[in-house]
Amino acid sequence: MSSPLRTLAYRHRWFYEAVTATSSLSVGGPTRLRGLGAAWLADQLPAGAAVLDLCCGGGEAALALAQRGFAVSGLDVAPRALDQARERSRRMGLPVTWVEGLAEDPPLPAGSQSGVQISLALHEFSAGERAAVLHACHRLLQPGGWLVIVDLHPATGVMALPQQLFCSLFETETALDFLAGDLAAEVTAAGFDVRRREPLAGGALQRLLAQKPADAGLQPAE
Ligand SMILES: C[S@@+](CC[C@H](N)C(=O)[O-])C[C@H]1O[C@@H](n2cnc3c(N)ncnc32)[C@H](O)[C@@H]1O
Repeated sequence: MSSPLRTLAYRHRWFYEAVTATSSLSVGGPTRLRGLGAAWLADQLPAGAAVLDLCCGGGEAALALAQRGFAVSGLDVAPRALDQARERSRRMGLPVTWVEGLAEDPPLPAGSQSGVQISLALHEFSAGERAAVLHACHRLLQPGGWLVIVDLHPATGVMALPQQLFCSLFETETALDFLAGDLAAEVTAAGFDVRRREPLAGGALQRLLAQKPADAGLQPAE
């Protein structure tokens, strides 16, 4: 079930951005939050590499990739979000290819990407859908390609209560399911090698970097 505040956030971009800006203070603000994935991909991939931002929303995290010099595509299922992303990239003068489609079955060729980013979106999917999305990432990546995920992490201590409050106001059951699961195990089950993990925001967020094995071929893991 969706709370009225979540509905408001999805209907009104300014409200979504205000909520994100407030919650991103714990990692240093919205620009740093949206640049977390790009920073780790830039350690692995040269400028010009093809990188896809899956579930790109209004394009902020995709544009952080473009600022690093990657050849960026952004995919989302919502045409309105893509319109906002298109307008944002036009204003910033950063070329990005915007694609409408499902993250579970992206309309892009196998092996077409050197990197894939999923920023603050995987928790929107059920466990079965997450497996489909991660398999899609595996299919899209070249052997040796990189996947970076920034998302919720089960908080303990001082961040536990704010996270519970945030989830009950703005998230759905899928976020609770995501928090109860093990992201590294899910990524490994999709055929990736997890290379790096970092808790952020006092443990309320995480950043994970994984690699498609160089000998994996283009077929997804079973
Ligand atoms: C919480 S927003 C995150 C947006 C962005 N990545 C960011 O960092 O701000 C989640 C996005 O996932 C998109 N989305 C949800 N389900 C999807 C699906 N099945 N396929 C593609 N996009 C989807 C939504 O339209 C929304 O833009």
